[in-house]
Amino acid sequence: MNITVLVTGANRGLGRKIAEEFVARGAKVYAGARRPESVDVEGVIPVQLDITDPDSVRRAAEVAADVTVLVNNAGISTRAGLLTGSIADIRAEMDTHYFGTLNVIRGFAPVLERNGGGAILNVLSVLSWMHPATSGAYAAAKAAAWALTDAVRDELAPRGIDVTALHVGYMDTDMVSYIPAEQKTDPELVARRAVDGVLSGAVEVLADDLAQHAKAALSQVR
Ligand SMILES: NC(=O)c1ccc[n+]([C@@H]2O[C@H](COP(=O)([O-])OP(=O)(O)OC[C@H]3O[C@@H](n4cnc5c(N)ncnc54)[C@H](OP(=O)(O)O)[C@@H]3O)[C@@H](O)[C@H]2O)c1
Repeated sequence: MNITVLVTGANRGLGRKIAEEFVARGAKVYAGARRPESVDVEGVIPVQLDITDPDSVRRAAEVAADVTVLVNNAGISTRAGLLTGSIADIRAEMDTHYFGTLNVIRGFAPVLERNGGGAILNVLSVLSWMHPATSGAYAAAKAAAWALTDAVRDELAPRGIDVTALHVGYMDTDMVSYIPAEQKTDPELVARRAVDGVLSGAVEVLADDLAQHAKAALSQVR
């Protein structure tokens, strides 16, 4: 497969599974991680990348100058509520999911364009669409990342770059270790669906039942 991929947050969780899936399909894969020494995925090239640090993003875009597919996967969940949570946590969610993702897109869009166009996959959530008080900060940041995804899709289309949104409910990763196993989808399956989606130029991937229900219920949003 003649593509070169960069996955953010590729050292664990869904990012790791997406990196492994691309390696299995024969792609060249850069595994972006805040601590590149924590990457132990076979067949990838670790790259230091903190998506909230513009200098780190700039350096990664220089190192990974042959990228044709960018996967914005890195994320955090502070579980901060908007009224009672710390403002630092609420800002961290926006800094990561919204400004961090935007940093990486701004850094890599010229790379993708120089390499003849390509594709971006943004890892979103059912919480881009459902906004419970218990995850107010996360949901607001994922909603912002959804809006960003739609807007950059329009902006990048004339530059030959497709943008795919991945929506998913709970996955069995560190992020939601507090959720019972039977409510979580295997991140390996989500990774496979995500990679199929971005390679086929899909606008949107609804990776599990919860994502499909959340999408169907959008017209009932208050
Ligand atoms: N798990 C779920 O149920 C679920 C559901 C819907 C959507 N999602 C989304 O799926 C994506 C992956 O989450 P996950 O479940 O795999 O979580 P995870 O296991 O907690 O992994 C999060 C990854 O993001 C990285 N990361 C966090 N902040 C970063 C930063 N500033 N720069 C670079 N990397 C950073 C982490 O790196 P470190 O190791 O350095 O911390 C880690 O590799 C996230 O966007 C998340 O919001 C998750």
